[in-house]
Amino acid sequence: MALFGKKEKEEIVLPEKLPQHIGFIMDGNGRWAKKRGLPRTFGHVEGAKNFRTIVRYCKKLGIQNISFYAFSTENWTRPLEEVTAIMNIFRDYLNDVQELLTENTKMVFLGDKDKFAPDLREKMIKLEEDTKDCKEMTLMLAANYGGRDELARAARILAKKAADGEIKPEDINEQSIADELYTKGLPDVDLVIRPSGEYRLSNYLIWQCAYAEYYFTDVLWPDFGTDELDKALVEFGKRNRRFGGV
Ligand code: IPE
Ligand code: IPE
Ligand code: MG
Repeated sequence: MALFGKKEKEEIVLPEKLPQHIGFIMDGNGRWAKKRGLPRTFGHVEGAKNFRTIVRYCKKLGIQNISFYAFSTENWTRPLEEVTAIMNIFRDYLNDVQELLTENTKMVFLGDKDKFAPDLREKMIKLEEDTKDCKEMTLMLAANYGGRDELARAARILAKKAADGEIKPEDINEQSIADELYTKGLPDVDLVIRPSGEYRLSNYLIWQCAYAEYYFTDVLWPDFGTDELDKALVEFGKRNRRFGGV
């Protein structure tokens, strides 16, 4: 059965095979604001609004896992004013997320929570706990996330287990590494969407994207609406994924 993205003017037929996990790199907020002569933080506010639009649309389409790169381990190097503004947007999100999470959505944070202010950390932990049994969709938000940081952390955990005699070094395999990542139990990324005209991963889910398809567009994240997502899904439907086979 084909799915239809209902549009005012036209109807786009989306592919029958939708990705199980879409990873969104929410980039271009600063440039969106600059183009309008506004401070960069305005772009982050607009980007956060668009995030909500896209979450709702994915839910409507029945996409089961969606992840969003919101703040990287490298983003702390930005001016304090910008980092503070992003943290405040994040705080607003955590205070007002319930309506977005209704209807059985599980919330998972990817990244090290320890670097956040205690009130944010507590809310993140509570949200994960409160939604852990939700089954319809999993919404992952990568905050203070870095793919290399995540892999180094997994290596530390496994090394400790080996030193404590819980596991043998020779038993470490791809599955045991995947089980120590923030995405434990969640599917790998099928489709990475990066707006803003940059062609890179910027340390996003580097392990989980090993066989992902990539979709790049010049559109800036605050303008990446449901029509843009339809286009990405149509493009994804045309890709021939071989996973090393023939
Ligand atoms: C992405 O937008 C949001 C974060 C990295 C927090 P940017 O802030 O990177 O926007 P550009 O790339 O400068 O336009
Ligand atoms: C990637 O965007 C991180 C997020 C979207 C959160 P950046 O703007 O930080 O990436 P680079 O610096 O252009 O690679
Ligand atoms: Mg950027």
